[in-house]
Amino acid sequence: MEAAHHHKLSNRPWRSSAHSLLGLLFVVVILSLASFSDAETHYHEFIQATPVKRLCRTHSTITVNGQFPGPTLEVRDGDSLVIKAINQARYNITLHWHGVRQLRNPWADGPVYVTQCPIQPGATYTYRFTIQNQEGTLWWHAHSQWLRATVYGALIIYPRLGKPYPFPMPKREFPVLLGEWWDRNPMDVLKLALFTETTVFPVGAGETILLRIINAALEQELFFSVANHMLTVVAADAAYTKPFTTNVIMISPGQTTNVLLTANQAPGRYYMAARAYQTAQNAAFDNTTTTAILQYKSAPCGGKKGQPASTPILPSLPAFNDTATATAFTAQFRSPWKVKVPLQVDENLFFTVGLGLINCSRPSPRCQGPNGTRFTTSINNVSFVLPRANSLMQAYYQNMPGVFTTDFPPSPPIKFDYTGNVSRGLWQPVKATKLYKLKYGSQVQIVMQDTSIVTTEDHPMHLHGYQFAVVGMGFGNFDARRDTPKFNLVDPPMRNTIGTPPGGWVAIRFVADNPGVWLMHCHLDSHLIWGLAMSFLVENGVGELQTVQPPPLDLPRC
Ligand code: C2O
Repeated sequence: MEAAHHHKLSNRPWRSSAHSLLGLLFVVVILSLASFSDAETHYHEFIQATPVKRLCRTHSTITVNGQFPGPTLEVRDGDSLVIKAINQARYNITLHWHGVRQLRNPWADGPVYVTQCPIQPGATYTYRFTIQNQEGTLWWHAHSQWLRATVYGALIIYPRLGKPYPFPMPKREFPVLLGEWWDRNPMDVLKLALFTETTVFPVGAGETILLRIINAALEQELFFSVANHMLTVVAADAAYTKPFTTNVIMISPGQTTNVLLTANQAPGRYYMAARAYQTAQNAAFDNTTTTAILQYKSAPCGGKKGQPASTPILPSLPAFNDTATATAFTAQFRSPWKVKVPLQVDENLFFTVGLGLINCSRPSPRCQGPNGTRFTTSINNVSFVLPRANSLMQAYYQNMPGVFTTDFPPSPPIKFDYTGNVSRGLWQPVKATKLYKLKYGSQVQIVMQDTSIVTTEDHPMHLHGYQFAVVGMGFGNFDARRDTPKFNLVDPPMRNTIGTPPGGWVAIRFVADNPGVWLMHCHLDSHLIWGLAMSFLVENGVGELQTVQPPPLDLPRC
């Protein structure tokens, strides 16, 4: 039953990713395993290094142990991780363990200026955390400026020893990391030659394999499909799902999706392919198809008498704007069993999410919007500004005034037809560092409503420190009276990242049982940088088990 742990993945994650803005550090992971009873502690050391000078320009990159993407971390539920980050580079950095609940331990969460000050060049910080009742696929990435373009990797959490998967044991498992692939050239400079080689996933005829698909792209939702093969979705964001079968998946930045694939076709070679799902109107994006090959071990090797092997078959992917397919896919998610969903709501929050425009006082390259404006983003008309004097969590813990306020609005300041023709006067948000306070244990509902300001768009919304139930979604304006009765309060999927349908809304519920400051934001990187974020301040409850742990002594200072 514990055979999952015997699968050492000798293959590398599927590389499909690069980005032109390259960071400035090398991250080295030294992995050692120490065994204490059945829970383990995994020690890692991350060392950062130097820029690369090429073509008269200083290119800089970030790799982990010389690998891109970074190494796959493999742990079991109940294990602890101790990751020492030593920054020998020129840029500030932090690391985030996307989807790890970090119970009472915001200090290890990582978003810069939210739960910690950055690890400055020359400084060190050790992330210490334990996986508590989570299993499946997560990932880790840098959480400061744009550094996550290249600083990321898979975090695979196997069940505790002796605990089986709730589905037949797959014969093999492969992490599939989908990243930005629209600018490959910088990676040539960095000699990441492997990047351009097509990855091959070997499979035996009749075998069932598990693909752990991670969307690590900065800005792009993706469709993913395998030629001639059906995919059975069994988990997402480190939570199991009621299995359902599909020929295409849609995955948003930040999300993970585990699928089973049975090699039940004629022995041969089949393309796995990913391509953009793009919902913003009039926005540039790359429509390139990125591929890897599923290869049957019994497939003919190289054709007869030196002729080339047969060309793999390409799957057909939906059109880039096929929202109907994306929506139908997402609508199929259920938890495999009844889950604990708050039935009474103490905090009923309604968040408008979307774009906006700021008037530029003078022309500048940042003013890419129409009529000399600059793009911005907001939630409830507040465009989130990170503090600089301290992190939010440290300021809160130290009672340092003046860093943030706790008056984040529970609903938009003005009601309007969110998905209609929005009057221009409502396009410019205010910048602020506002938090929303939640009492420990309060039952929270958030309806996230996309707006049509500038453009409607799918915003993959990620909440740190929590897994939430996705109880409903729809198009147009949310109507509490009409839509609430249709919520799934029995077996909704549990996630950490969920998209607002373009021009629609999504409703989530969770219990505020994790004290600390927790960021919620759009996982499209530019939207986060422009302000599509807010933070919750979840107060301590009663007693030690409902109280934030003391900060580690080496927590960086600003
Ligand atoms: Cu994966 Cu705050 O992000």
